[in-house]
Amino acid sequence: MNPSKTALEIVHHLPPHYLERTLREDVRAGLGKPAKTLPPKWFYDQRGSELFEQITQLPEYFPTRAERRILEDHAREMAGTSPAETLIELGSGSSRKTPLLLDALMDAGDLRSYVAVDVSDSALTGANSELSRNYSDLTLQAVAADFESQLQLLPKDGRRMVAFLGGTIGNLEPDARAQFLIQVRELLGQAGGSLLLGTGLVQPPEILIPAYDDPSGVTADFNRNVLRVLNAELGADFDVEAFEHVAVWNEAEEWIEMRLRATRAMYVQLPGAGLEIHFDQSEDLRTEVSAKFRPERIEAELAAAQLTIAGQWTDPDKRYAMTLAEPF
Ligand code: SAH
Ligand code: AVI
Repeated sequence: MNPSKTALEIVHHLPPHYLERTLREDVRAGLGKPAKTLPPKWFYDQRGSELFEQITQLPEYFPTRAERRILEDHAREMAGTSPAETLIELGSGSSRKTPLLLDALMDAGDLRSYVAVDVSDSALTGANSELSRNYSDLTLQAVAADFESQLQLLPKDGRRMVAFLGGTIGNLEPDARAQFLIQVRELLGQAGGSLLLGTGLVQPPEILIPAYDDPSGVTADFNRNVLRVLNAELGADFDVEAFEHVAVWNEAEEWIEMRLRATRAMYVQLPGAGLEIHFDQSEDLRTEVSAKFRPERIEAELAAAQLTIAGQWTDPDKRYAMTLAEPF
């Protein structure tokens, strides 16, 4: 890593070899079974993080623009409802929308520090360089940690707002979401903390499918990137171009599934995971779910983690919601 390119200094909470070990475990668990799956967190090496940034610029991909619009219109109200001393952003990626929130929280009075949390060093390294230039009055921290298992390691001083933006909560399956929200509730403590949660809303497939299968092929490239990560990290020999990108709306689960479909039968070696796997022709590997929500589900899932809604805002097209929730 070249420190001169780093906007924020990175504090590592990931134990040595954590990523290698958990990647191996995820690959054995997900590829060693009949219906093959991989967790989406492995998309985000440097190329994957860059491709995700390109996705956010696509005309078809509405979540980022919708969330930005909501923040532009309502961040002040959010900050007024729940003024915080520390903003902790989970899965912060490029932190590009964060200044809207930082400005509002600073105007509301009390903000002292911002903590960006991401499992991907590349994302943290590329994080918005505006931050260190424009927020010299704040203590800024970039923390490399896994938000599914390491929230207990994050700072607990001051009144905290935890922001989970982009709709990333939809990349967790329902059980994992429930566990995650319970951990967030613990991180908030009792002293007036809040969770600011971004969620895509259920939309007709004509809107959703192009957002996950754009004609320019950027999302396809992002999807295939997980195979490049396995090739690089586990010495695997995936023929990346032999997999077709597929995006499906699963009506029953109300989530988009991204899959990689083998265009021919093949064996793949993954020496770093001690695996050899076989794909039939047209067999799918599911690489991501991206759940979309109805307001009732947002409320129910928050309530199950003892969080109650203090405010909720949508974009003018009602494709995306931001919910401010507080412990009860
Ligand atoms: N919040 C940003 C980025 C969304 S992309 C936005 O709204 O644009 C999802 C981000 O979550 C990526 O940067 C990825 O590295 C991170 N991420 C995915 N799984 C994670 C995990 N388990 N722990 C921490 N970060 C994770
Ligand atoms: C990060 N996450 C919320 C994105 C999403 O929309 O589920 C990842 C993504 N997958 C395909 N396009 C974008």
